[in-house]
Amino acid sequence: MRIVVIGGTGFIGQAVLKEFLMTWGRELQATVVTRRKEGAELFPIWQRPFVWDVNESPPPPSLIDGVDAVINLAGETVAQRWTQSAKQRIRDSRVLTTRNLVESFRQAARPPKVLVNASAIGYYGDRGDEELTEDSPPGSGFLAEVCQLWEEEALKATEFGVRVVCARFGIVFGAGGGILERMMPMFEWGLGAKLGSGKQWMSWIHVNDAAGLILHAVTNEQIKGAMNVVSPNPVTNRDFTRALARAVGKPAFLATMLSIPTFILRMQMGEGAGALTASQKVLPKVAQATGYEFIHPDVEEALREVVHRRQLLSLALASTD
Ligand SMILES: NC(=O)c1ccc[n+]([C@@H]2O[C@H](COP(=O)([O-])OP(=O)(O)OC[C@H]3O[C@@H](n4cnc5c(N)ncnc54)[C@H](OP(=O)(O)O)[C@@H]3O)[C@@H](O)[C@H]2O)c1
Repeated sequence: MRIVVIGGTGFIGQAVLKEFLMTWGRELQATVVTRRKEGAELFPIWQRPFVWDVNESPPPPSLIDGVDAVINLAGETVAQRWTQSAKQRIRDSRVLTTRNLVESFRQAARPPKVLVNASAIGYYGDRGDEELTEDSPPGSGFLAEVCQLWEEEALKATEFGVRVVCARFGIVFGAGGGILERMMPMFEWGLGAKLGSGKQWMSWIHVNDAAGLILHAVTNEQIKGAMNVVSPNPVTNRDFTRALARAVGKPAFLATMLSIPTFILRMQMGEGAGALTASQKVLPKVAQATGYEFIHPDVEEALREVVHRRQLLSLALASTD
């Protein structure tokens, strides 16, 4: 199994690479495309780094030629203040990277069998209590527009006979990255709180299931087009707040009473605050219809697992000091 992972240095990328290693072992040949020129010695021996900024230009077709799967997870973080230049980086790092990648497929003698390209449930916009599946129309707003452009670029690879899956990630929970890494310290200090009203739906997924679903999409030829990468049990922000407070052993009652007002979020993140309070009740219709079995379908259990893994990671780090 030969795979190329763009953005494979990131939070989801590392989990995906481990999932593939567990499945294929020594048969796996994994190339990680990274912009980082230094630190090649930090890559695990089984991940071959290839330094290229796909944002800037198409990677050489020889990199892609004959590989089984290309997984594109590159993207500037959205968890920052959305200035005009930040919005441009957020858009370009997704749309241009995908365009350049597909251009290299055009040039390759043997394009990959499948492209799994990241997207996000931001595609659906802010949709209240509506249940959303892959068949639902897109919403409005900056992220919804970026996701549509991102997916349009990825789907152009079908012209070269590539099966394309647009993985619409929900909020990914895991140790060592993602939203929880930022939120956890506040909850551990007993300062956890709802975001805004707390009534908004959060569609989440444990990082092990996110990686499991990418593997599922690569190996399951039935899957084409959009695939929601979310657990079957979305929760309101209030229920998430309660579950996270419990998972870190702090009073859940207090956390669900307190709330961070929307204007404070706006002061910190500008327009990006809307992404934190948007309501998206997204269901994994494609994953379930194609037989994917979730490892962590329950939010309380998933959060307890993340807290436990974070504790193990900090113990491991302390023992290497
Ligand atoms: N985590 C979530 O909850 C979540 C939710 C919805 C969607 N997603 C999407 O899933 C993908 C992976 O997420 P993640 O959490 O693993 O992100 P991450 O940890 O930030 O990793 C993303 C990778 O993209 C590359 N990258 C960062 N900024 C870039 C830029 N300006 N131009 C080109 N490449 C850039 C980096 O690789 P190098 O530095 O090695 O080049 C980085 O390792 C992203 O596209 C994200 O939008 C994630």
